Amino acid sequence: MTIAIAPSLLSADFSRLGDAARACEEGGADWIHFDVMDGHFVPNLTVGPIVLAALRKATRVPFDVHLMIEKPLATLDQYLDAGAGRVAVHVEAEPHLLRFAQHARGRGVSPGVAINPGTSLASLDEALHFVDFVLVMTVNPGWGGQAFIPGSLDRIGRLADIIRSVGSKATIAVDGGVGPDNIAPLVRAGARHFVAGSSIFSTGDAREAIRGLRGAAGTPGTLHA
Ligand code: DX5
Ligand code: ZN
Repeated sequence: MTIAIAPSLLSADFSRLGDAARACEEGGADWIHFDVMDGHFVPNLTVGPIVLAALRKATRVPFDVHLMIEKPLATLDQYLDAGAGRVAVHVEAEPHLLRFAQHARGRGVSPGVAINPGTSLASLDEALHFVDFVLVMTVNPGWGGQAFIPGSLDRIGRLADIIRSVGSKATIAVDGGVGPDNIAPLVRAGARHFVAGSSIFSTGDAREAIRGLRGAAGTPGTLHA
């Protein structure tokens, strides 16, 4: 299992999103992360399927869609049609997680479940058997540029233990406050997929920042616990 880096466009210049997507590709990003916010599930309002579809033409990098919206099943197909390669809904927002996962998978899109910092890991219980990944929020969702919540490292370690103990194949993705200074401990704790917004787009050179983050992550097999 290798490391995947997913720059979040939330911290990019919204007047030049096409350029930001191309920079992600040139920097070797594995995914481009889209933060979809509806002004209800979280207070902020961002992009929807029209913007995804437009950017789908700007890059070959697959899209990692994070739905921070109420009633995600009502509009899920719009995001799948717009070119999502994988998609996560929040455990706090969707009571029909199995229906969601079956539907996404049936359309060839990898399903994941996102979880807020204040939600018990126990709420993931059944879902660990039918989603491909868990997107662990390490900030309260809504904005980029927030500080990583310190207890999250321990939380990721506990989730990795649970995943192992129930025999799930789900991988752990981390979203919020990820940068070169904390990515290696996150890898050691069991995370493999990293969303990063401000640590990539606030540097002025997104390509270099993506490469730097990957370098700082190291290789899981060679890291010592
Ligand atoms: C927060 C979003 C994140 C955010 C991460 O609600 O889900 O994807 O863009 O941004 P940074 O890396 O700046 O915390
Ligand atoms: Zn996100």
